[in-house]
Amino acid sequence: MDDKEFYLDAIRDVVPEHKEEQIQDVFYSFLELEHLYDSAIELVKTQLNIFDNEFSMRFQRNPIHNIESRIKTPQSIVGKLQRKGMPVTPESARNNLTDIAGVRVICCYIDDIYAIADLLTDHSAFQLRKIKDYIKNPKPNGYRSYHMIVEIPVFFSKGKTPMRAEIQIRTNGMDFWATLEHKMHYKFEGDGPDYITKELRECARYVAELDARMEEL
Ligand code: GTP
Ligand code: MG
Repeated sequence: MDDKEFYLDAIRDVVPEHKEEQIQDVFYSFLELEHLYDSAIELVKTQLNIFDNEFSMRFQRNPIHNIESRIKTPQSIVGKLQRKGMPVTPESARNNLTDIAGVRVICCYIDDIYAIADLLTDHSAFQLRKIKDYIKNPKPNGYRSYHMIVEIPVFFSKGKTPMRAEIQIRTNGMDFWATLEHKMHYKFEGDGPDYITKELRECARYVAELDARMEEL
């Protein structure tokens, strides 16, 4: 089954009362939504590159090592709305999900993470909606990263459209750890053996120590 069919089926599942024509309409409005979020991501990446370039000009170094971004697939949007018992419509997705657009910023040092976060908060067109500082307060499994939800004013021909995005800022080390943990989570379907959980926690401690020592150099 191709992506579109899979997605149409998911919509049919949640709104069985819809006629086939309406199902297609919902599908196309989700596609349109994807395009809106795409534009928001482009603006975030551009703003981050502006900060990075300015830093490199003024201080001869780049605080940002790498930027990744992704848009939640229609399937995963539908899946998440279903899981949360929310209406499966583009409006509901816009209002209830904050991570349809995701940007991940990888920095070399912890100081750079806070510098970038401060710049985004105080010197950009973005409105800060929420912060989760998993660096100061790591999750029990060892996860560390700085999360922000921002609202981006995107100007389309029809006017200003505020779009939300999730920005995750982390060091190379934190990213290395999170990638591995994510793989393990999938491999064991969220129910890994104790020794893996312990080992990951131990690794997280090493990464945190490494981050702190590198900062001192
Ligand atoms: P979600 O509904 O899953 O998005 O969680 P949330 O709304 O509580 O947001 P939170 O800021 O805690 O996490 C959002 C994102 O951070 C996730 O989608 C992951 O990309 C990442 N993340 C959070 N916790 C972990 C973790 O324990 N391990 C890994 N590898 N990534 C995590
Ligand atoms: Mg999420």
